[in-house]
Amino acid sequence: ECFVVAVDGPSGSGKSSTSRGVAQRKGYAYLDTGAMYRAATWLVLDSAVDSSDPAAVAALVARTELRVGTDPAAPTVSVAGTDVTAAIREPRISAAVSTVATNLEVRRLLIDQQRQIIAAARPGIVVEGRDITTVVAPDAQVRVLLVADPQARVARRKNELGETVADHEVHDQVIRRDRDDSTVAEFHDAAPGVRVVDSTELSLDEVVDQIVGLIDD
Ligand code: CDP
Repeated sequence: ECFVVAVDGPSGSGKSSTSRGVAQRKGYAYLDTGAMYRAATWLVLDSAVDSSDPAAVAALVARTELRVGTDPAAPTVSVAGTDVTAAIREPRISAAVSTVATNLEVRRLLIDQQRQIIAAARPGIVVEGRDITTVVAPDAQVRVLLVADPQARVARRKNELGETVADHEVHDQVIRRDRDDSTVAEFHDAAPGVRVVDSTELSLDEVVDQIVGLIDD
């Protein structure tokens, strides 16, 4: 039996650092489902496939091997043998990812793969994304929705991107992706039984402590 901790949240809510921190403290595996949607987006942009053709995009994703490493100390992702761990963080990927992620056939394929990874993990796994508490692992023993005020999320994203990026650009990116992602119904509110953790006023360690405190494995 795998102990599953599901963490959902919007861009800049701190879900990646938090989820990795929880996994490291518990000796669990870690799965970044956003990295899988980013890798699928990298694949589409790298190919000759028309990104506005949903069936062609889904067929491309279906026939390509996408692999994710689940070590919280060094998460990796590869597409057909090419390591894309760094490349999927580029702004061109962030700008295009919502389009690929709203392709329902792509979601079905990636969710299948996510469930297989979860089922095989020992002794536990922390899974982060947008639809983990609602769709991918609604039976997870711990389910958390991590939220933060938009200003805090913009500030964190800016920190990750470095000083070279202008404030208004980061703001636009975070707010635009909130809007683009908002067409997927499951991303909205906390489902019943999901613990909402607001990280606006909390340090990373404090958020990790709170979530580790919910785990009784
Ligand atoms: O940049 P940020 O950390 O917020 O995003 P991410 O976790 O890397 O996810 C990138 C994008 O993938 C999101 O904006 C969603 O469009 C999509 N995504 C999704 O559709 N479902 C998930 N479970 C995770 C991510």
